[in-house]
Amino acid sequence: MNLTIIDDNSTNLALLEEISKIAFPSENIKLFSNPIEALEESLNTLPDLILIDFMMPGLDGIEFVKKFRTKQNTKEIPIIMITASMETDVKQRALGVGVTDFLNKPLDVNELKARLSNLAELRKSHLKLKNLNQWLSDEVLKATETILKREEELIFRLSKAAEYRDPETGGHIQRMAHYSRLIAIKLGLDDLKVESIFKAAPMHDIGKMGIPDSILLKPGVLDEFEFSIMKTHAMIGYNILQGSNSSLLQVGAEIAISHHEKWNGTGYPNHLKQNAIPKTGRIVAVADVFDALTSERPYKKAWDIDRAKNHLIELKGIHFDPDCVDAFLSSWDEVLEIKSKFRDDSQDIYSI
Ligand SMILES: [Fe+2]
Ligand SMILES: [Fe+2]
Repeated sequence: MNLTIIDDNSTNLALLEEISKIAFPSENIKLFSNPIEALEESLNTLPDLILIDFMMPGLDGIEFVKKFRTKQNTKEIPIIMITASMETDVKQRALGVGVTDFLNKPLDVNELKARLSNLAELRKSHLKLKNLNQWLSDEVLKATETILKREEELIFRLSKAAEYRDPETGGHIQRMAHYSRLIAIKLGLDDLKVESIFKAAPMHDIGKMGIPDSILLKPGVLDEFEFSIMKTHAMIGYNILQGSNSSLLQVGAEIAISHHEKWNGTGYPNHLKQNAIPKTGRIVAVADVFDALTSERPYKKAWDIDRAKNHLIELKGIHFDPDCVDAFLSSWDEVLEIKSKFRDDSQDIYSI
């Protein structure tokens, strides 16, 4: 505990120091006869208690307290003011600027000792409470981080489980998540939204878990009936993910149900048009289709990258949100980087 004593009279200062040594459990007592110097020092070091005379040349006790209390974290530091004046007016003004307690001159040594030790106790319990609060908020923060990490891990594992049924590769999931993030950044979405799209995009086809193998794994082109079953994966995915309190799962549900909608209203399942399609779904649509085109599948060769690029340009404003296509194409160097970095044998989805 640090005590600061301010009195322009050196005899008083010495006396106050002697008494304080007995009554206040101080490791460090600072004495000032000049209140201006005392103010500067006290604002820098924030003592645990201040004992100050009222009548001083240059800066009286009330002015000192007024200036001291303007700084943050000084409100809880107790200040005892010593005053010769019995005028209630001075005391009222002193209380108004934040003086905690008073002592009258001539000093009553026992009274000074009692007040010093009381305020020392007050200060100690305040510091204890402050530490406890800090400790508690640190713990809450840690617990929240743990929950968020677990949530991400569960989502990652859920997407992994879906991969076992889906002929699309792990590399596809990684690339489309990164492409989606790229588009979201270029569109100027806030960091939180960008990250949630990035983490939720891998779940876009989770509903394929509900599609029979005869359709999901069919090597050839699907007939009309088979395709109508295949299309239900959007709604199945939504049903798996919706209704959660987790904002990540909410974004996942939105992406699952909207990633096959088309800008001109000819998509599925709800035939939504333009801005009625959630932005997350419009972003993922570009990322997902581009990666599907440029990847090899059992039933087709990979398109070369310029052909896929032209395809996006041709379907801009028809299948795709034009802003999402522009955002994607304006990040071409990053697209190429992601494409070469996340090949189909790579594992770590969150590695960039
Ligand atoms: Fe899909
Ligand atoms: Fe996909």
